[in-house]
Amino acid sequence: MSAAPSLFSAYPLEDFRRLEPAISAAVTGVLRGGHYILGGEVAAFEQEWAAWCGVEEAIGVANGTDAIELLLLGLGIGPGDAVAVPSHTAVASVSAVRRTGAEPVYVDLDPDTFTLRPESLELALKGPAGGRLKAVLAVHLYGHPADMAGLAAVCEDAGLILLEDGAQSHGATWQGKRVGSLARGAAFSFYPTKNLGAVGDGGAITTDDAALAARIREIRQYGWRERYISAVEGVNSRLDEMQAAILRVKLEGLAESVGKRQALAARYREGLAGHPLVQLPQVREGCEHAFHLHVVRSPRRDELMAFLLRQGIPVALHYPAAVHQQPGYARFVAQSPDLAETERAVREILTLPLHPWLGQDAVDVVIAQVKAWPD
Ligand SMILES: Cc1ncc(COP(=O)(O)O)c(C=O)c1O
Repeated sequence: MSAAPSLFSAYPLEDFRRLEPAISAAVTGVLRGGHYILGGEVAAFEQEWAAWCGVEEAIGVANGTDAIELLLLGLGIGPGDAVAVPSHTAVASVSAVRRTGAEPVYVDLDPDTFTLRPESLELALKGPAGGRLKAVLAVHLYGHPADMAGLAAVCEDAGLILLEDGAQSHGATWQGKRVGSLARGAAFSFYPTKNLGAVGDGGAITTDDAALAARIREIRQYGWRERYISAVEGVNSRLDEMQAAILRVKLEGLAESVGKRQALAARYREGLAGHPLVQLPQVREGCEHAFHLHVVRSPRRDELMAFLLRQGIPVALHYPAAVHQQPGYARFVAQSPDLAETERAVREILTLPLHPWLGQDAVDVVIAQVKAWPD
């Protein structure tokens, strides 16, 4: 028996369907306004996004990869430096580091939350690139906040700058504070499938550091401090007015849609509790998981995945390979500590369907099929 495909509607499209009148009005407003780059919509969204995260400053940029790159550039990180990153992440976390000219040092993960393990960061500091480490990019993977207290303690001792990659965690909290406000600076992506998604590319940096924000604003537009005069070297990485206007519409519903994600995750937790071959997502005390992705693990992942796909359940892998296992980024493994937990996670993870508009009936079908396995 195959699950009805309509049960598993596509997330960003469904989001648009439900918000179509408001999104269309926002787009028309931009088109009629005639100001298409760095106008009122971007300025308003920056204020609203900063307020949402609980910080002073947000800077809209072209995508999440640029957000990480510009954050690092704004901190003066570049060639000769090293940045600690997880290897179990979207490759963008690492490619952004490389774009600055710095090198990644891969750090192993905590197997329950898939986020950086402070003990592994300590090992990285003792490794061959330890002396060049300048910053740590804590990725709140799948929507679960990293261990910010543990990482901050290591960073403080070693003089490292702690940063966040919040691309998958809009709406997650750590000790009651939203991600984006938990370190010196944070980077976000608004790729269409994210918890807050545009209808194209978009990204932002958040920080309480006004001087850092000012440097990033210059870098984002050719290094201009005043028009046509580049005070520093810069790039072109601007969030556009149309995306900002759409993001403002969607931001109004973000708390509610994160709540729906959490409710569906709770249903999975209830339905699959005690399954001998499936470990459900863990949530560390003091954290609120934003469930961008609902990732379980199983020692027999490949069999489970094949079974569910045969039943018509759209499961996926995030990600099929760690970054250090990919040819383009493998060479930095030599300066990284042991990545055993990362490699075990890659073999065991499986993403079950979850998005705000998925019905409970769809989740119940997935639960029933997981329980029917192994048959
Ligand atoms: C953890 C993480 N970091 C960074 C990015 C990069 O974002 P973008 O695709 O907007 O460049 C993504 C999204 O793919 C991501 O999931």
